Amino acid sequence: MKITNICCIGAGYVGGPTMAVIAEKCPHIKVTVVDLNEARIAAWNDEDVNNIPIYEPGLNEIVANTRNKNLFFSTAVDQAIDEAQLIFISVNTPTKTYGTGKGMAADLKHIELCARQIAKVAKNDKIIVEKSTLPVRTAEALKSILDNTGNGVQFQILSNPEFLAEGTAVQDLLHPDRVLIGGETTPEGQQAIESLVDVYANWVPKERILKTNVWSSELSKLTANAFLAQRVSSINAMSELCEKTEANVNEVAKAIGMDSRIGSKFLKASVGFGGSCFQKDILNLVYISKAFGLNEVADYWEQVIIMNDHQKRRFSRNIVQTLYNTVSGKKIAFLGWAFKKDTNDTRESAAIYVADDLINEQANIALYDPKVGHQQVLADLDYLDTRKPADNEKHIHTFDNPYMACENAHAVAILTEWDEFKDYDWKKIYDSMLKPAFIFDGRNLLDAEKMRAIGFVYQSIGS
Ligand code: NAD
Ligand code: UGA
Repeated sequence: MKITNICCIGAGYVGGPTMAVIAEKCPHIKVTVVDLNEARIAAWNDEDVNNIPIYEPGLNEIVANTRNKNLFFSTAVDQAIDEAQLIFISVNTPTKTYGTGKGMAADLKHIELCARQIAKVAKNDKIIVEKSTLPVRTAEALKSILDNTGNGVQFQILSNPEFLAEGTAVQDLLHPDRVLIGGETTPEGQQAIESLVDVYANWVPKERILKTNVWSSELSKLTANAFLAQRVSSINAMSELCEKTEANVNEVAKAIGMDSRIGSKFLKASVGFGGSCFQKDILNLVYISKAFGLNEVADYWEQVIIMNDHQKRRFSRNIVQTLYNTVSGKKIAFLGWAFKKDTNDTRESAAIYVADDLINEQANIALYDPKVGHQQVLADLDYLDTRKPADNEKHIHTFDNPYMACENAHAVAILTEWDEFKDYDWKKIYDSMLKPAFIFDGRNLLDAEKMRAIGFVYQSIGS
């Protein structure tokens, strides 16, 4: 089938950027991104393209080029489903917070609702594409719902997981290492795969488009995230050993990364990985493994999360210990709240957990992040439900100027590796702080020698 009309359900961090790039590269295809969240759709349609709901370098230009030409954002879900030949499902699949599998399994309620809605609306054959990250064998459940509740039309289900990383989403989508498409081995399944291959082939070299069976595709996504997160936990484990032995984790990472079998990426020690997916996907992998009785497999992967939690906790504990075992009433400046640079996404950011620990110790947090505002910070803390919202509000102050955040602070903690932090006038910050002035660099971002020369007591992860 030659695809000329695509619908994507879910206008989030994946659906929005992915569809914008498809629209840009496939001017002959009409792409409609739909969502139940009216405010989010309104923001995607905001006249000022700088106000789209997701900050990603380069995204607003692509949206400006394509919006209302062949890219549309809408809340009219049924209409978009009806018109499309191919439907991406790109809704959120968070960790379950209730019932069986609470805290581990992926919550598939949004996926199931999409399937039921598609089944209800579809009046002709359609290709359904799993873009969300899903437990292996979800396609089976999707197919059962679609075939048993639909209007007798044919559905082909493909798995096409997304590998973009936030902050580099546009570049990742324009130049993917690979595009993975899993489908049924039947002739109809293979035809559906080819229809989607033809969409990507508008800009992705064919040798980078990988075709597998559905289950391999679903499981490859969980596996890729588990392997990436495992590298971060591995280097973070070594960072603690480095701190005890006067080895320097940056030197160790460089030395091992030059081994071409290991490779240099994802070896940056940090305050801990965050983001909406690593933890959720590994927990899901652990849950699935346990469900099959594979307890050793489950324990192996769970350790990646245990290490990450430990890394966050030991960062906050170290701040308290270094500040003479009390931060009560002290001002701690936080630079960064997003889970990594170049994104406004804060989901599972290590900063949230570090702040929570320090507020437990009655610290006052003065925060600056280039892309995250006060309401989001409070919402993130309230979500943890550690204390009353009013108490979070008392302890968190956000600033739109980093120098004001640091003024009269006892310590600065670097939580996100925003490039701009490197270029600050650190002498000016030092002069405005209480002495001794401490920096806890959770990202190994600043130049240790330079900071010490200014007069800071400077500590970074793993050295
Ligand atoms: P998100 O929360 O930013 O976006 C999901 C959107 O789906 C929300 O706006 C929500 O309102 C909408 N939605 C939910 N149910 C709906 C329904 N029934 N009808 C219409 N809209 C509905 O999530 P995200 O970060 O874009 O992630 C989506 C999926 O992609 C997840 O499975 C995630 O694991 C996966 N993924 C995410 C990333 C990433 O970098 N964020 C990368 C790769 C894969
Ligand atoms: C990650 C994967 O990289 C993507 O391929 C995947 O599509 C995505 O998850 C997903 O499924 O959601 P993302 O979470 O956006 O992307 O960002 P990463 O660059 O992977 O960073 C994740 C976390 O690990 C961040 O907090 C980052 O600061 C941290 N990190 C990363 C380190 O601490 N050290 C490193 O060396 C690399």
